[in-house]
This record gives sequence, structure tokens and C-alpha cells, in this order.
Amino acid sequence: MKVVYTKNELKQEIQKVKKSEKTIGFVPTMGYLHQGHLSLVEIAKKETDYVVVSIFVNPKQFNSQEDLEKYPRDLQRDLELLKKENIDLVFAPSETEIYSEEPKLMMDIPELTNKLCGKFRPNHFQGVLLIVNKLFHLVKPDKAYFGKKDYQQYLIIKRMVEDLNMDISIVGCPLVREENGLAMSSRNVRLSDKEKEDALLIYRSLQIAKQEFLKGEKNSEVLREIIKDIIETGKNNKVEYVEIVDPETLESQKVAKSKNMIAVAVYTGNVRLIDNIEL
Ligand code: PAJ
Repeated sequence: MKVVYTKNELKQEIQKVKKSEKTIGFVPTMGYLHQGHLSLVEIAKKETDYVVVSIFVNPKQFNSQEDLEKYPRDLQRDLELLKKENIDLVFAPSETEIYSEEPKLMMDIPELTNKLCGKFRPNHFQGVLLIVNKLFHLVKPDKAYFGKKDYQQYLIIKRMVEDLNMDISIVGCPLVREENGLAMSSRNVRLSDKEKEDALLIYRSLQIAKQEFLKGEKNSEVLREIIKDIIETGKNNKVEYVEIVDPETLESQKVAKSKNMIAVAVYTGNVRLIDNIEL
């Protein structure tokens, strides 16, 4: 496994791979890797010849300086995990390497970015669109892998690639959970033991709402209230949103239908967690 830190080194490696006609699979990450990230890597390894992982905590997608500063980082640990996965290349640039100049380009897909998390995180998805676009131009992947834990992000990237006729296929990968049901996230390490317990209510509430739906409850308002009430029995939990949406348009649905998605964002203490379930 090779590790490169600059755009130039990366370009040289990618040029070599392109000459060899191997297909490139790309997994962009912000590091502090867990099994959720590694599941993407494993799928990429199966589907492509040469796997690139990027590790870059992108300041442009954070809403608060505090969240950015507290974002967990441990490059050595990440590299050890990736070595075990036997991938080909890691790109771990510094902030100045990526943003040597302040970007002037502004990317947006308002119909998708102004819903769910986008409502509460101004400019977050615009920051994601910009960095992923920059990384795609550098890595030139054939396939790129995104987790459906960040379902809205996956949909937005898919749309960007379609709108720009980029020759990259975007692969959506299943959400990976801890054994206790908590959706894996780099931010989970910031939870205290008590907060972790409260965070378990998130997935539990989604499962209970799904059961109610399957038993016949189709009123979204009722289902949303069930979820909110269960989550907020946890003293450290504050629901930011609960929405039942169409999985293609992210439009809120008054009447819940099969294949709709329930998406939630919750603050457990100071940590913002998201989760979703398909009906
Ligand atoms: P990050 O949060 O590090 O996630 C990197 C990738 O791992 C994303 O595609 C995310 O959806 C996926 N992932 C994280 N937790 C997961 C889980 N529990 N199950 C399945 N997949 C999971 O998402 C980002 O970084 C950034 O926004 C990025 C795309 C790298 C742009 O900066």
C-alpha cells in the first residue's frame, strides 16, 4: 500500500494505473475509520482492480469551528487498518494542499440540498459537492463508493455525476451498525457511556415505527411523533428532525408508503447523529 500526501504524487500514481488499464475504485473518507468505512473498501476491492482511499477532514463542510476541531483524527491508526485491507493507494493531503487557493466555484443542487440535513447545515452539502468533485478530478475513478448511512449525500453525489456527465459510477453501500444497532460513525467516540445508551434509542425508535407502519399505520405525522417521543425519553437526546421521504426526491410524504425512507438527525449531548431506515 502506497501513501501519498500531495496532488502531484497522486497524479503520477494515477497516470501509471491508467496506462495499465486497471479499473480504479475510490472511497473518499474523513478518516478515523471504522467498519462502516471498511465495508465500502471491501466492496470496492471486489468490484475494481485498484483501490484508492482518501483521508481528508474537509473544513468546508463543517458548520461550526468546534465540530471541526473536535472531529477525531488518527492517521497512523487509519493507515494500519487500510494496510490490513491490502488496498493500493491512500491519499492523505493537508488542508493547504487541497485549498492552496480559496475556491471561487460554488456547487449546489438546491432541490436536494435544501431538505433534511441541508435545512440545518447551511453550506454543508455545497462543501461536500466541491471536495468530492475535486477528488474525482484527481483520482479519476471508474467507480466511487458511498455509504447509505449518509443517504442524502449519496443521492446528491449521484445527481452531480449525472448532471456533469462524469464517467463514474456511484455505488451506494449498505449502512453498517454496531451489534447493538447504533449506526457506526466516527463521531460515536465522542459519546459518553450514558450518551451511548441514549443513542441506542434512535435505531430502536425507527424499528418500532417500521413495525407500526407494517401493522397498518400510514399517517406520517403519527409515525414521526412515535419516533420523536421514544428518542426523547433519552435525557441527553434532542431530535433535530424526523422525516418520512421519497427516496429519490427526498420530498416529505404525508402518507407513508412502502420503500419510503425515515430519516432522523438527533443531538445526543453535543454530538450530532443521523440514521435512516427503509419502510
Ligand atoms: P465520512 O463521514 O468519513 O464517511 C466516508 C464514507 O463512509 C461515506 O460514504 C459514508 O456514508 C460512509 N460511512 C460512514 N459511516 C458508515 C456506516 N455506518 N455504514 C456505511 N457507510 C458509512 O462522508 C464523508 O466522510 C465526507 O462527507 C466525504 C464524502 C469524504 C467528503 O468529505
